[in-house]
Parts: sequence; C-alpha cells; structure tokens
Amino acid sequence: MLEVLETIEAMRAAAREWQRQGHRIALVPTMGSLHQGHLALVDQAHREADRVVVSIFVNPLQFGPNEDLVRYPRTFDQDRARLEEGAACALFYPSAQEMYPEGRSQTIVVVDHLSRILCGVARPGHFAGVTTVVAKLFNIIEPDVAVFGEKDWQQLTIVKHMVRDLNSPVRVVGVPTVRETSGLALSSRNKYLSLEQHEAAPALYRGLLRAQEHWRAGERDREVMRQVVTDSITAVGISCEYVAVVDPDTLSESPRTLSGPTLIALAAHLGKTRLIDNILLEETQD
Ligand code: PAF
Repeated sequence: MLEVLETIEAMRAAAREWQRQGHRIALVPTMGSLHQGHLALVDQAHREADRVVVSIFVNPLQFGPNEDLVRYPRTFDQDRARLEEGAACALFYPSAQEMYPEGRSQTIVVVDHLSRILCGVARPGHFAGVTTVVAKLFNIIEPDVAVFGEKDWQQLTIVKHMVRDLNSPVRVVGVPTVRETSGLALSSRNKYLSLEQHEAAPALYRGLLRAQEHWRAGERDREVMRQVVTDSITAVGISCEYVAVVDPDTLSESPRTLSGPTLIALAAHLGKTRLIDNILLEETQD
C-alpha cells in the first residue's frame, strides 16, 4: 500500500518509525513524470533496502530563469498509479511552500568546481539547486541509500562528492540508463519532442555507440573520439552544446591519449529541448 506524505513532519515521522523498527530505507528522488527509467531506480532501491521512498518534487531552485519550470510535465495521478503497481512504500510529495517556506532557501549547498563544468556552463546555479534539495531530502528522510540514474552522470557524481564532503551517512547508488529501442535515453523531457525531433534524437546514442566501436578497435585519441560523436549528431541537424571526453570520477578532461575508464558526455538541443546522454568506455571492452 502506497502512503502519500505531503508534509515534512509526516515524512520524517514515517521514516523514523521504520528506522525504529530496524528497517533500511532507500530514497529515489524524482521530479515526477515517471517513466521506465524511474521504475528501474525503484527496482534497484528495493534491492538495496526494505522500505522505499520515492519523492516527487519539481524543484524550482534548479531551474534557470529561462528554463522549463512552468511547462515541466506534472502528472501526479499517473505517477501515483505507476508507483502503486510497483512496491514503493511511500511517496513524498511536498509543495514548494513546504520545501521553501521563505520562497527561496538562504542556505545553498554547492559542490563547487564540479557544478561549474559541462552542463554547469550553460546552466549556472542548476547543480546548486539539485544539491540543496537533495541535501534537504537526505535530512528529512535520513535514508540509508539514495538511488540516481546514470543518464545524469554529472548529477550522480556531484551528489557522491557532496555526500563525501559533508560526511553524510547515505550510500549513493547509480543505475544504468534505460533506453527506447531506438537507443534514445528515457527522459521526462522527451515529451517535448515533435515527431520529427523524436526520430532524429536517437542520433545522440548512435554517436556514442560509434565512439564505442572506435574504442573497441583501439582508438585512443581524445579528439578523434569527440569528433566521431559530434559528426554523428550534427549530421542529422541536431545542434551540440558540448561533447566532452572526461575522467568518469573527476569529470576533468581526459589526456589527449586516452587510458583507463573514459566517459563521453554530451548535451544537445533539438529545438527548445535540451537532451543529455553519455557512455562509459572501459578497457575490459577491448
Ligand atoms: O534528477 C532529477 O530528477 C532531479 O535533479 C532530482 C535529483 C530529483 C533533484 O530535484
């Protein structure tokens, strides 16, 4: 039975009661508009703990002034029904007023350098909004484990750093990206795509797979890899915001000659819709 909790007090009381009973709690933070990718996070959460809390909160703090806060898809009834089919135990669904009673938070949690690179360049303040709300959720629910998708690799990395830097007793777990059969990574923002854009969008993952083929064939030149991805994307008329070839842990640019695990991450624009994706290349794939 899925319990919907709308206040911090009720959420905290339920979580404390589970802890008192000796249960382990896993948190899946979301902004709703749930799809199979989110449900994969919930499945993983069940493997990690015996009580699963899903939060749905479209966090105003992580949207820039010209971003899609107002049109971000809000599908609460559908989301609740999807979670009722699965085995989530509680749905934390606070209002903006509940989370930010003063309108904005005076306290901001910033993972400094990592928040300013890659997606942080075009979205200043975005990751500070994410880490602030995630820190709040961690303080409210006090989960043992928190589960995030690897599609948002930079977000996952930043949250791992936050937890380490603040000595937070939460274990952060990443879950592989779920994709459509076309290869397009599932995202709530895919709903914005026109039919034509939806047909073009799998080029993002195709580009990443092409880079993976080059990697498997022994290519280790960073710029060649970057170009392979960029060419695949721009060939179908998609505009690239960035294609980065980086260390998967530090997100710093890889040396010109690649060695060891390498992440290729990208952001691209299809009309007004901004999509991200990534692929991890490992030596064992040779
Ligand atoms: O990935 C998301 O949906 C959001 O950034 C998160 C982690 C729920 C924080 O608002």
